[in-house]
Formats: sequence, structure tokens, C-alpha cells
Amino acid sequence: MKALVLSGGLGTRLRPLTHSMAKQLVPVANKPVLVHCLEAIRRIGITEAGIIVGDHADEITAEIGDGASLGLDITYIRQEAPLGLAHCVAVAEDFLGDDDFVMYLGDNVLVEGIGAAAESFAARRPAAQILVTKVLDPRQYGVAEVGDDQVVRGLVEKPADPVSDLAVIGVYFFTPAIHEAVRAIRPSGRGELEITDALQHLVAEGRTVTAFEYSGYWQDTGKTDGLLECNRVLLDRIEREVHGRIDDESRIDGAVFVAPGATVTRSRLTGPLVIGPGTVVRNSRIGPHTALGEGCTVQDADVEDSILLDGAVLDGVGPVRGSLIGRRSRVTSPPGAHAHRLVVGDDCRAVVA
Ligand code: G1P
Repeated sequence: MKALVLSGGLGTRLRPLTHSMAKQLVPVANKPVLVHCLEAIRRIGITEAGIIVGDHADEITAEIGDGASLGLDITYIRQEAPLGLAHCVAVAEDFLGDDDFVMYLGDNVLVEGIGAAAESFAARRPAAQILVTKVLDPRQYGVAEVGDDQVVRGLVEKPADPVSDLAVIGVYFFTPAIHEAVRAIRPSGRGELEITDALQHLVAEGRTVTAFEYSGYWQDTGKTDGLLECNRVLLDRIEREVHGRIDDESRIDGAVFVAPGATVTRSRLTGPLVIGPGTVVRNSRIGPHTALGEGCTVQDADVEDSILLDGAVLDGVGPVRGSLIGRRSRVTSPPGAHAHRLVVGDDCRAVVA
């Protein structure tokens, strides 16, 4: 069995970060979403993975490399334009050959992993198996109608009037039957070859598509709020590990991870939180539920429930809550400042208290 990981797309719902980086490389709990996904694939015993890449191909290749450090043998497959999830299957056809495969959307995080789902697929081996989970508002997802026997009766992409509360999660198990279905469908209203339509085609042809109901925590991290929530959930699972230098005037409570090379002085750290290598924290209150990347500077600040990407600076500001601060961005309040001075890039949002 192989894996096909989708890491193309424009990431428009995560702008401005995605103007300059792939959405799959945005870190949650200080690890790119894509790495969480590749680790989940490795944990079910798969070693051969194809990654679909688009405009951010170079950046993704630089981050993941040949996959050896993750125990994977990775092949990069270029998708010239984001023409849909089923289009990804089509461009990967040579790589996939006659193998069964799991297709994993590189912005989806399933905290409980996909082990149980993989076992269920192997035991029954339907033409395809989707993963579903109950959500409050199914209209923003693919929605499945599932019988008592776990067999899918029908699927619709982002329906205005959902027939069930079962959203399709971005992890799919396929036999090679999917290739013929992908060839049979046409682009949807949004101009994409939808995997939901390919699955619906299998159902209409009388092939068995089953649904595995995943009950753990799932998040599509392609939006800010989902990303921050996922960060909180993953941080809730970390253990205390302090490597960097912490002075005697600082206080640490709870699950706090401080990477080697980080320094913390005269500060209060409340876990769960992670502090990346080389980051400097002075005279600040950090956490809970905060991830500071590599080489950040946080001083005279108060930050909670937030993600700072590498090299970000917070100086003299707080309370900072529910924030996502991009690489090398600076949010400061120097002495004598008497007005907000904002130099923000395209599609940014700043809420000033
Ligand atoms: C895609 C799928 C949708 C699925 C969702 C899960 O949507 O088309 O069926 O429910 O991923 O994350 P997209 O994120 O492309 O809008």
C-alpha cells in the first residue's frame, strides 16, 4: 500500500501566511502540519509516499527532502494548477500503479491517527473507504449518506441542504478502481475535478464504498481558527521538557517544552506551550496554548493561545490572544509611541484593543 499526500493548492483561506508559504508547512505545536500527516502515514506501516506539489514545491522539498528522516521514501509529483483532488489522483497514476493507496490531504490533522481506519479497510477491502465524522455545520464539507452497514449511499460536495451531519474527512483509502472513476467525471461548478464526484461515481456504478466513522479530534487546518484550535489540542498532549536556559527569576507551570538554545529570563511560563530553539523570552507572560517558533524574541509581552512563526518579534505588547504572527513579523510598542503604526501586508487582519 502506498500513500498519496496532497500538498498543492493556494491556501486562500489562510492568507496572508500563504502568500509566502505553503499552508501545509504552517506549524502547529511547532511542527509543520505536513509532518504530522507524514508521521501518521508512517505509523500505519507505509513507507512509499507520493507528495503532490504546486507553486510551493521548492519550499516543501526543502523541508521534507527524500523523507528518510521520517522513515519514508518520497516521490514528488508536480501538479501544474490546483484543479481538484481527483485531478491529483490522475497526475499520480504512474506513481500509484496497481497499488491500493491512502490519500491524505496535507492540511488535515487526525490526532488519534488512522490505524483503526486502515485496519477496517484491509479487513473488508471495499472499492473505496472514506472517513467521516459528525460536525455541527456540514455545509462546508463533503457530506455522506451512510447506511447501517457502513455502506455509503451517496455523497455531495458542500451541499446547501445536507442529508446528514457526517462530514467527509480528508483521508481516503482507495483500490485502483478509483482511476476509472476519476477518468469518468467532469469538473464541478468550482472548476475542479472533485474526489467526492469520483466516489459518487463508484457508488452509482454499484461498487462498494464504505465509511469509517472517526471519533477522535480532526481538524482541517486551512483556516486560522481551525489552526489555532488544532494547536491547542496538540499542545494539550505534550510533556514537560526543559532544555534551554531559564533564570531563577522565572517560573514554569505545567507542560512546557523549551528547546535547546532558547533563553528565558524574568518570565512566567504557563503550559501547555512550546518554545523553539534560539528563541529569547524576557520579562513576559507566555501561555497557555502558545507555540513560539525558532529564533523569536518576546519581551515585555503577554501572549496566550497564539502561534508565532520563526523569527517573529513581540515587544511591549499584550494581552495578545488568538493570534497568528508570520515569519519575521514585528509587533512592538516602543517607549514614546503614541499612535498605532501599522505596516501590514496584503490580506492581513489586525484587531487593536
Ligand atoms: C476537501 C474535500 C471535502 C472534505 C474536505 C476535508 O474540501 O473536497 O469533501 O470534506 O476537504 O478537509 P476543500 O478543503 O478542498 O474545500
